[in-house]
Amino acid sequence: MIFHKKTKLAGLVLILLTLYCFHRLSNVRTQKVIEVVSFNQLHESPNTSQNESKPQPEGETGLEDAKTELLGLSVNATVNPIEAINSLNYLNLHHDVYNSDTYGGLKEVSIILIIQVHNRANYLKLLIDSLANVPEINSTLLIFSHDIYDKDVEALIKGIKFAQVIQIRYPYSLQIFHDQFPGADPLDCDASIAKEKAEVVRCKNWKYPDTYGHYRIPTLSQIKHHWWWKMNYVFDGIIDRYDLNTNVLLLEEDHVVTPDVFHVLNKLIALRDTECRDCGIISLGLFVRTYTNYIRDISKVGRQTWFGKHNTGIVLNKELWNEFRNCSQLFCEFDDYNWDWSLIQISYKCFENKLIALYPKAPRVLHIGDCGVHTHKCSSQTSALKVSALFQKANHSFYPENMAITEKFSKVPKISKPNGGWGDVRDRALCKLNTHPLNSDTWDFNANLLT
Ligand SMILES: *[C@@H]1O[C@H](CO)[C@@H](O)[C@H](O)[C@H]1NC(C)=O
Ligand SMILES: *[C@@H]1O[C@H](CO)[C@@H](O)[C@H](O)[C@H]1NC(C)=O
Ligand SMILES: *[C@@H]1O[C@H](CO)[C@@H](O)[C@H](O)[C@H]1NC(C)=O
Ligand SMILES: *[C@@H]1O[C@H](CO)[C@@H](O)[C@H](O)[C@H]1NC(C)=O
Ligand SMILES: *[C@@H]1O[C@H](CO)[C@@H](O)[C@H](O)[C@H]1NC(C)=O
Ligand SMILES: *[C@@H]1O[C@H](CO)[C@@H](O)[C@H](O)[C@H]1NC(C)=O
Repeated sequence: MIFHKKTKLAGLVLILLTLYCFHRLSNVRTQKVIEVVSFNQLHESPNTSQNESKPQPEGETGLEDAKTELLGLSVNATVNPIEAINSLNYLNLHHDVYNSDTYGGLKEVSIILIIQVHNRANYLKLLIDSLANVPEINSTLLIFSHDIYDKDVEALIKGIKFAQVIQIRYPYSLQIFHDQFPGADPLDCDASIAKEKAEVVRCKNWKYPDTYGHYRIPTLSQIKHHWWWKMNYVFDGIIDRYDLNTNVLLLEEDHVVTPDVFHVLNKLIALRDTECRDCGIISLGLFVRTYTNYIRDISKVGRQTWFGKHNTGIVLNKELWNEFRNCSQLFCEFDDYNWDWSLIQISYKCFENKLIALYPKAPRVLHIGDCGVHTHKCSSQTSALKVSALFQKANHSFYPENMAITEKFSKVPKISKPNGGWGDVRDRALCKLNTHPLNSDTWDFNANLLT
């Protein structure tokens, strides 16, 4: 009972706070709160309100808070899609840089961590706690990219005081487009209906099953869309815009990092420059089945053609990203809903030479998400507990002074067949649109690509 009352109270406080912020920002349109607000109307147009060529903290603190609270209240309302997208684009363009006064602004940033988040706040908390334990974290920029509004996730991110933080939001989110593409259009084919049957019932996308005869599953498609949009947005809308020249490290909400993650990254960069000049990509999160040999391997480094084992904790820069983006057609058309397998295709099929990965044998980015897309029966904390025990045991072994390349595989791993899930022409077209998020038209909701 008490719990119930508390929840209600929290909801009420949220609404009051929102109304208060909204009032402060604009005396007029309070009654429009429940509609998706066109943030453009709240303030001057993007063209006049901000000098886009250099960082400028938002003048009014709390502006972003108010905007995101409104976003939370608005997601269930019937929305005009164009207005929703404009609102999210506006919010992205007018992001706050949290804690920039404390840490010297974006010019002090030595590495950018791009963190794709959904709604698993319990995992995200562990990631944030692990980041807080990294001594050099104060010179990083954390960019959180959302595809859903989640109160607990928002609160965790707002609570971060140890680094500079920017938040961006994927505009074509299922939370907003829940009953139309890119979400689940009720007239679309069920994922597993046979094509012959689909043709008879004339569900909308009957002509476009994947390699294996299945139709799209919006929740799965969204992950690849979000990933691609986020990468392009960060490189164009943040790295280019502020003229930053740093590496980026890719993380997800169910990862954790070791305290020596940047120490190790610097060692690997030094090794690459001296002993492995053809190592085009660094992966801090080698996939390992057990941590039995973790301490034994703590200072060992490996080198291998980049493939699925090295898809976690990857580090790249703008040059490499531009090479990937140059192969956007392959990424967007390859029939696989996994962003990582699609990216590996690029390395194998579009690059002149397949990428070579350099990686610590004892991973410094670890995956703890037992409950995710690929697993349904799971107990959410098993891996987290294992990792926590490992961190205690390895505590005095971290920060190896010398690291050396101890394994070099010359055999090129065979890559698997496409996993499917990406047969729909609309997914391919939206992916191409998201290749240039700053310079694209809005998705045409009236176009019929399914002819
Ligand atoms: C912003 O500027 C661009 C070109 O500089 C123009 O095409 C666009 O219409 C402007 N938008 C607004 C809202 O004024
Ligand atoms: C934006 O800032 C740059 C560098 O400070 C300056 O040269 C430019 O005139 C500014 N542009 C506008 C539109 O204020
Ligand atoms: C939206 O609706 C769903 C189900 O109808 C509900 O669970 C959720 O709390 C609502 N979200 C907001 C922000 O009101
Ligand atoms: C980060 O912390 C270190 C050591 O505490 C300090 O020397 C450095 O100036 C800080 N850097 C920033 C950007 O705050
Ligand atoms: C871009 O990719 C194409 C293949 O799609 C390739 O022929 C071309 O050389 C690439 N360009 C650059 C600059 O990498
Ligand atoms: C690891 O060791 C440091 C001191 O070297 C200590 O401050 C920290 O609490 C230890 N962490 C764990 C998880 O034992």
